[in-house]
Amino acid sequence: MLVTIDLDKCAGHARCYAVAAEYFDIDDDGYAAAARVIVPEGAENLAIEAVAACPERAIQICEA
Ligand code: F3S
Repeated sequence: MLVTIDLDKCAGHARCYAVAAEYFDIDDDGYAAAARVIVPEGAENLAIEAVAACPERAIQICEA
């Protein structure tokens, strides 16, 4: 599953990292560190939780 993060929308809430630290990386200030994340088969619900957790709606699932 390909997940994209709009780094312009990211406000550094770091909730994506709190939900799925294995896939979402943050920088020292708590902002998303990568614009694209590949979430492997079997972990899709973590990606879905991360989408729901971001208050800025910065995370989108691009490919199932
Ligand atoms: Fe940024 Fe949203 Fe994650 S604001 S750090 S993409 S929870």
